[in-house]
Amino acid sequence: MANNELRSLLREKSVLICAGAGGVGKTTTAAALAIQAALLGKRVLVLTIDPAKRLATSLGLPELGHKVMEIDEDVLAKVGTVQAGGKLFAMMLDQKLAFDEVIEECATSPEAVKRVFANPIYQQISTSLAGSQEYAAMTKLQQFHSEGNYDLLVVDTPPTAHALDFLDAPKRMTQALNSTALKWFKKSSGNGAVERTGKFILKRLSKFVGSQFVDDIGVFFSEFEDVTEGFKKKADETFSLLRGESTSFILVASPAVEALQEAVFFYERLQSTSMPFGHFIINRVHRPSPPLPSADAMRDAPPQLVAVAKNWQKIVTRDANAVTMLSKHHACVAICPASAKDVHSIESLGELGQTLLASDV
Ligand SMILES: Nc1ncnc2c1ncn2[C@@H]1O[C@H](COP(=O)(O)OP(=O)(O)OP(=O)(O)O)[C@@H](O)[C@H]1O
Ligand SMILES: [Mg+2]
Repeated sequence: MANNELRSLLREKSVLICAGAGGVGKTTTAAALAIQAALLGKRVLVLTIDPAKRLATSLGLPELGHKVMEIDEDVLAKVGTVQAGGKLFAMMLDQKLAFDEVIEECATSPEAVKRVFANPIYQQISTSLAGSQEYAAMTKLQQFHSEGNYDLLVVDTPPTAHALDFLDAPKRMTQALNSTALKWFKKSSGNGAVERTGKFILKRLSKFVGSQFVDDIGVFFSEFEDVTEGFKKKADETFSLLRGESTSFILVASPAVEALQEAVFFYERLQSTSMPFGHFIINRVHRPSPPLPSADAMRDAPPQLVAVAKNWQKIVTRDANAVTMLSKHHACVAICPASAKDVHSIESLGELGQTLLASDV
């Protein structure tokens, strides 16, 4: 694959999704790539999920929340010359608020919205239902894309244990909402034989968990039925966007075997479902700098120092093997060295982004 493939993605695509295992650097690379795209003259929004204040501070913002904020031109100029039209915006998605917005859009009336919001079961589900964070991120992405105010949307994905959860979670969530339980609760409000059995079970259940709780569940499920159709429609629309020509997935991994495997699984899944792979990034690669000590130097060194040097050598070798393994089987691999310090300033994000663009192997 041609050099500077990552740069072409920044120039040509309108949605980049940074996905990968937990803690590999998704948020960091999403921000770093968004900065580089803004320098290239794009109007970019980075949609992040990370509640850490670190990113806001790095971008020179007092805080970052569920509202689009523009990064000051002077801050952006610290990392390079901004080409004409280049602008950077950021938003940190609040999952609960994003979920509320979907309800507002999908409910049949403002009264129904009020009833859903007031229901204690909704309060629980909107923050803890598996997949709701991913779903919220995807619907927000879809909204920004259809509004068309940005040339490029760079999406950071939530800190899931497994990278593929990002693709699977929304479907799992809408299936759960459409589940047998929902149908059963609805049926139990009728007057036939099945309904009578349902009512009996509910009565017994309320003895254990309290009748208020059972009522809340019943009301929630019947109110939510109208909304689930809208939820599913939105999930389908977002999936078409994720499949589209203007989208690319950036698969971020660390050189650790499990993280690399996750990235390769994700890649295979993209291939098998005709979704657009863009690039691999191996982040936090340790390079032999300073150079590893020679065998002679090791012979005369104190044992503690030898142990440190050997450990360092092991890490450097593991990382080099990881790079070789991935780039042997796949084109489009960019490498980002491990910095000695956390990436917590606009300058360090800028440096990281430049290194990535220069490092296509
Ligand atoms: N190349 C790097 N060198 C040094 N530190 C790095 C590098 N990349 C990321 N980090 C640091 O590693 C930590 C994790 O990075 P980040 O938050 O971007 O990961 P993540 O994949 O978004 O994590 P999560 O899955 O929890 O959302 C952060 O403290 C970040 O500053
Ligand atoms: Mg993150």
